[in-house]
Amino acid sequence: MKEWVEPINKIAREELRKSDDNDDSHGFGHLCRVSDLAVKFAKSEGANELVVFAAGMLHDIISLPKNHPQSHTSSKLAANRAEELLVDLSFPKELIPEVCHAIHAHSFSAKVIPESIEAKCVQDADRMEALGAFGLMRVFYCCGKYGTEILDDNDPLAKNRSLDDKRFSLDHFEKKLLTLYETMQTGSGREVAFSLSEFLKEYRQKLVVDHSEGNLSSARFKIARVYITAGEMERSLFHATDSLGDNGRQLNPSEYALDSFLHDDDPYIRKFIDQFTFEVNGYE
Ligand SMILES: [Fe+2]
Repeated sequence: MKEWVEPINKIAREELRKSDDNDDSHGFGHLCRVSDLAVKFAKSEGANELVVFAAGMLHDIISLPKNHPQSHTSSKLAANRAEELLVDLSFPKELIPEVCHAIHAHSFSAKVIPESIEAKCVQDADRMEALGAFGLMRVFYCCGKYGTEILDDNDPLAKNRSLDDKRFSLDHFEKKLLTLYETMQTGSGREVAFSLSEFLKEYRQKLVVDHSEGNLSSARFKIARVYITAGEMERSLFHATDSLGDNGRQLNPSEYALDSFLHDDDPYIRKFIDQFTFEVNGYE
């Protein structure tokens, strides 16, 4: 597989550079993390690692904005483009349909059933980034980008109305994020997803308590607001190579959203950073 790492990384970078639609929640870092985790799952599930690697790196090379009427076709478009690119690269012909199926099936909104163990590994790895600390960052980043509100002031948990995640980000927890754990296809995925899902549940619960007590400057609201601003201003979720500022760089919250929290001693913010550290280090 080694000889394919560089060429496939290169085409993934080039495709993202050409596209206007990819944001920091679907950027190169996301492709690398999904690909790494999918390969880890492939090792324990006995799946073809090259197929999983290539599909992980190319799964979001086309990602239409969530408010685009055709956004549910993104994974099909990405699979078609990946096929062209892999043919040009002289990637093993017999594996190309496998890679394309895994790309097409990874998406939640495409509603395609992953038929191979490789597709299952990629889908699980991608869904992992919608959970845990990454999930929080991404949901509020999108909240800022698409102008949704954090929650419905009159009915935060939608007890007396239908869920509407196009208006309220908190509704997206119930409608999608907290259902992901049950959709995990591999034993390895389920194992990791459980604790990430619990983290999101606890966040939601505490945010609703903060809201009911009028504590709008709580750590939970602070996290939401920092990532909403990141989405509005198109900042990075975190520094790509030194996310925790361990290498002595100058922190820069107006460029890297996570930098806003690195010197914060609030116990919940520390918990958020610990959770992030666990995830960015490959769930180890
Ligand atoms: Fe993705």
